[in-house]
Amino acid sequence: MIAPQLLAWWDKHGRKDLPWQRQRNPYRVWVAEIMLQQTRVETVKPYYERFVQAFPRIEALAEASENSVLAIWAGLGYYSRAHNLMQAAKIVVQRYGGRLPKEVDQLVALPGIGRSTAGAILAQAHGQRHAILDGNARRVLARFYAVEGWPGKSAVNRTLWELAESNTPAERTQDYTQAIMDLGAAVCRQRRPRCDSCPLGANCRARLLGKTSTIPAPRKARRRPLKCCSMALVRRSDGAVLLERRPPVGIWAGLWSLPVLNDNEDPAAWRARVLGVSAKFIGELPPIRHGFSHFALEIRPVEFLLAGSSRKLREADTWLWHTGNQPLGLPAPIRRLLNSLDVA
Ligand code: ADE
Repeated sequence: MIAPQLLAWWDKHGRKDLPWQRQRNPYRVWVAEIMLQQTRVETVKPYYERFVQAFPRIEALAEASENSVLAIWAGLGYYSRAHNLMQAAKIVVQRYGGRLPKEVDQLVALPGIGRSTAGAILAQAHGQRHAILDGNARRVLARFYAVEGWPGKSAVNRTLWELAESNTPAERTQDYTQAIMDLGAAVCRQRRPRCDSCPLGANCRARLLGKTSTIPAPRKARRRPLKCCSMALVRRSDGAVLLERRPPVGIWAGLWSLPVLNDNEDPAAWRARVLGVSAKFIGELPPIRHGFSHFALEIRPVEFLLAGSSRKLREADTWLWHTGNQPLGLPAPIRRLLNSLDVA
C-alpha cells in the first residue's frame, strides 16, 4: 500500500492551490482534466483561467459558438479535446439538466472522457473512490512494482490498472489522486527521477534494481514522417490577411488558418482557382516546421498581394480577412508567422 507514505508526502509538498482546486466543482474539474490530458500543468494554467472565465458554467459552454471556444483553445493543441468538450457540454445540458453525471459509466460515455479521466473527475469533484492511471500514476506504479514492458500493451496496461485499483484508498481519495499525479510530475519524473526525495524510494523495486531508466519501457521509437504543404499568404493592400476555416475534422479542425494549396499545385493555378482575380505573386517565404503527434509538417508559405476584392470569397463562414483586431482561433505556428509579419 503506497497511500500512507504518499499522503504524508503530499501533506508537506503537494500542490494545493492549482486553479481547478479553487472553487472546486465538477465542471471546473472536468475542464481541467481534459486540458491536462496531453498538456503540462504550467502550460494549462493560463488557458484554463481564460476558459473558465469565458465559460464559467456548463450552460455557457453548451451555448458558446465554436469560434469563441477555439479562440481560447488556440495554441493548446489537440483540438479534438475542445470539440469533445463542446459536444459533451451540450449532451450534459440536454440529458442531465446541466449536471455532470456522478456515475462512472455515464461519464465514460461522454466524448473525450476515458476511464482515467472519469476516475479523476469523480475522485477530485466528489471524493468518490476511483482509480486513475494517467501518465504520472502509471510511471509511479510501474516503477514501484517494477512492471516491465510497454504500458501501451494490453497485458501491461491491465496489470497497471489492477495496481492502480488496489492502491487507491477509500479515504482521502481526492488527495491521493492529486498526490500520485504530483509525485509523478515533481519526483518520479520520466528522466532524472529524484529518488532521494521520494517517499516511496525505500521500497521502490525499479530503484532497488537500478531500472528507473528502463521502467516504464518507452514505446518503440517511431519515425515521424515529414509532410509538406504550401499555404497561401494573401495580403490585401490594407495589410489584412486571408484566412480559411479548416474542415470540421482532421488537424486544426475548425480553426482559422492559411488556405492550403493542393499537392503540387502551381501558385498561379491556385490563384486562378481560388482568388479568381489578378493577384500579384510575390514569392515564397522560408518554410516553417511544426510537430504533430504522428508526423511533422513543413509549411511553405507563398505570398500574394491582392489589389481589388475577390468575387469568389463571399462565404463568410469559410473565408475571413484578418486584420489582427478580432480574437480568433489560429494554430500556433500560423499565429507565430502572422506575428512575425505584424498581423495577428
Ligand atoms: N494531470 C492530470 N490531472 C492532473 C491534476 N489534477 N493535477 C495535476 N496534474 C494532472
